[in-house]
Amino acid sequence: MREIFFESKHYSALVFENEGDLARYAARIVVEQMKNKPEFLLGLATGSSPIPFYKELIREYQAGNISFAKVNTYNLDEYYPIDPTSPQSFLVFMRENLFDHIDLPEKAIHIPRGDAPDAEEEARRYQRELNRTGGTDIQILGIGSDGHIGFNEPGDAFIYDTHVTELTRRTIEDNSRFFEDVSQVPTHALTMGIGGIMNARTCILIATGKNKAQAVHDALKCDPAPACQASVLQFHRNTVFLLDEGAASLL
Ligand code: F6R
Repeated sequence: MREIFFESKHYSALVFENEGDLARYAARIVVEQMKNKPEFLLGLATGSSPIPFYKELIREYQAGNISFAKVNTYNLDEYYPIDPTSPQSFLVFMRENLFDHIDLPEKAIHIPRGDAPDAEEEARRYQRELNRTGGTDIQILGIGSDGHIGFNEPGDAFIYDTHVTELTRRTIEDNSRFFEDVSQVPTHALTMGIGGIMNARTCILIATGKNKAQAVHDALKCDPAPACQASVLQFHRNTVFLLDEGAASLL
């Protein structure tokens, strides 16, 4: 593992030789913090990037090193509209990749509802849930090739609260790999806003692969601006950027 420092910035990025080392490092951070606080508030992401990390968390649970019995989880986002039982929903993704393999109580799962009758009302309801937490202990993040975190897409502003968002063409194309074809990808989603992410005490951003290199470069080296939403993390007090060589190739 090597560390990249950025001139006059307070953060650095850690670059790993392989996904396994990266995932184990991320899991170690979570496990160490969870051991000291059983009532842990864990913010979660879907997508390909955190899958090896979730495998590590499951391994730590199976080894008896951690329990999720008193943990509450808060997912970043969900497509809207989507049937929460459909294979492409983020809820099913989380069940398959983490929840079904650990002792997390069903009532401890928090995620926007893709089948809520009114999207705006659902965004407000989810925001109220987040407000009650006062911020998660750790928020896991991926990054879109367009620089999004959660589904906060590039735009003119950073939006603080949970909101309905229109996915960019790029995000729809990137995520079409999970669907039969691109026309089936929902055009909208409900996402935690930048405020919910920034309220986490620690953020762990995982980025792997060359297709993330430009977004990672803009997030870490450009002045923070809503054109690259992840760049707001430069203002976060404790964000750990975990990259592979591909994602770090433009730094
Ligand atoms: C998913 C999410 C997104 C993904 C991002 C990267 O809950 O919030 O921001 O983290 O789109 O996705 P992958 O990891 O599939 O490249």
